[in-house]
Amino acid sequence: MPLVTTKEMFEKSMKEHYAIGAFNVNNMEIIQGIVEAAQEENSPVIIQASESAIKYAGFVYLKKMIEAAVETTTIPIALHLDHGASFEICKKCIDAGFTSVMIDGSKLSFEENVNLTKQVVEYAHSKGVVVEAEIGKLAGIEDDVNVASDEAIYTDPEQAKEFVDKTGCDSLAIAIGTSHGAYKFKGEAKLRFDILEKVKEKLPNTPIVLHGASTVIPQLVNMCNEYGGNIPGAKGVPDEMLREASVRGVSKINVDTDLRLAMTASIRKVFAEEPEVFDPRKYLTPARHAIKETVRHKIKNVFGSSNKA
Ligand code: G3H
Ligand code: 13P
Ligand code: ZN
Repeated sequence: MPLVTTKEMFEKSMKEHYAIGAFNVNNMEIIQGIVEAAQEENSPVIIQASESAIKYAGFVYLKKMIEAAVETTTIPIALHLDHGASFEICKKCIDAGFTSVMIDGSKLSFEENVNLTKQVVEYAHSKGVVVEAEIGKLAGIEDDVNVASDEAIYTDPEQAKEFVDKTGCDSLAIAIGTSHGAYKFKGEAKLRFDILEKVKEKLPNTPIVLHGASTVIPQLVNMCNEYGGNIPGAKGVPDEMLREASVRGVSKINVDTDLRLAMTASIRKVFAEEPEVFDPRKYLTPARHAIKETVRHKIKNVFGSSNKA
């Protein structure tokens, strides 16, 4: 089936209380691992690319690889721009056939964020494309996404409602305690489910998005460290909390860090155990498999989207 928007996926997931995984992609093996898992689980899936991923892979390469993923599967796949920072990048992706874009005005003032989001919504909707927007800042550091953790602020439910009413955005990313990257919590992991509940009360029909939602899977961190990596004290959002978020109204859960860890851990293992290997296929095959099994675990055991295609 051709690429779809997230509209129907989210309508069904909100009715049946599960979440759709949105997985970040940079290269062919990551794309293949994700869609193979989603196909075998018969699950809808969102493939998302950040601006730096687009820069890395090249716009045309990325687009064509995703076309290949669509051509070789039968599940609903949405192609989403992750953290678009400007109207221009959103327009470029919309014009190129992305079915969903995120305009991330969360670093702007409320009014500026409203104005920018409105501009993107107007253009996107005229082309049949849906828009995710964000209010409230997330802590954490990713290449192009950098907010110091002491600046982290939670989403104000009242403001969330006003923002959706004013912009007409199709889904909303909120800040309830998650953050990007591998170091999300210093002590215990904690999410503000009370804020999620208030947002859902005010916006019962708006799909809610959780960024920075990797588990930072301990086995993968240990494996990286065991085979020469240095990622001490990494910590993410436990599966249990993501399960709770999925049933309590989060419709889209973003995962990048766990895929990075899965790929890196499996490549490190091959390099450490088989130093004679220099054929990239010998380490990229297990890496692709690790991506696939990580995605499968999330879809099947955490987000609950198996057999919802
Ligand atoms: O939220 C950010 C994503 O993990 C993408 O990160 O900009 O390094 O590709 P990136
Ligand atoms: P993680 O860093 O927790 O994987 O979050 C990814 C994300 O939010 C992409 O937008
Ligand atoms: Zn994000």
